[in-house]
Amino acid sequence: MPGAPLPSNCHPRLRPHTILFSLTLVVIRGPVKRIKAIYPGSFDPPTNGHLDLIERGSKIFDELVVAILRNPEKDPLFSVADRRKMLEAMTSGFDNVSVDTFDGLTVDYALRVEARAILRGIRAISDYEYELQMALMNRKLQPGLETVFMMPAEKYSYLSSRLVREVAQLGGSIECLVPDLVEQKLREKIDVAHKFANREQSAGKTPSEGKSKFRKKKL
Ligand code: PNS
Repeated sequence: MPGAPLPSNCHPRLRPHTILFSLTLVVIRGPVKRIKAIYPGSFDPPTNGHLDLIERGSKIFDELVVAILRNPEKDPLFSVADRRKMLEAMTSGFDNVSVDTFDGLTVDYALRVEARAILRGIRAISDYEYELQMALMNRKLQPGLETVFMMPAEKYSYLSSRLVREVAQLGGSIECLVPDLVEQKLREKIDVAHKFANREQSAGKTPSEGKSKFRKKKL
């Protein structure tokens, strides 16, 4: 029966010549190399397109680290901690996927965690130029590190975090574009922003005077 544990008297015994054979293989071929890759990005917020790529990456790499860039110059919608929590929840079903954050150069981070490849997604030809530029610059900085491009499913080829943010902020449906958890977090953020905008309006300020990143629109 597949998957059923073997009775204790059925365990194959490791004979000395089996051990010797395995050791000889290791000596001749070297130890089997495990390939670790990083999947760097902003993930603000993570989408189903990202998840699709993570799933594909987890099948070809032994280990995959989803690495969120901590970029103090950007003004993200979600904090790094929020993005990390969302990605951890989204990837909890993959044994070989973990989530981390980094700052500085991607190649330096890759080296620090002993990754041998950088995974990036290409949705359409329009992505190619920018991705090629980054991949070649990364190769110049760190020739031993390979960039591997993968394509997400066609149904996600138009999907981006920026569009998800915009559609959600303007009251459009983002169902099926992001995992349920991300959709819920986006709605919470938008509700808070609407309350903030309402308070400002009743205090006599115009919405542009406030700090809200959202336009006031009913969902
Ligand atoms: O999800 P994004 O915003 O397209 O990800 C871009 C990212 C984070 C991969 C890229 O901006 C990056 O690698 N930044 C780290 C700084 C760095 O290494 N810059 C040189 C890239 S050639």
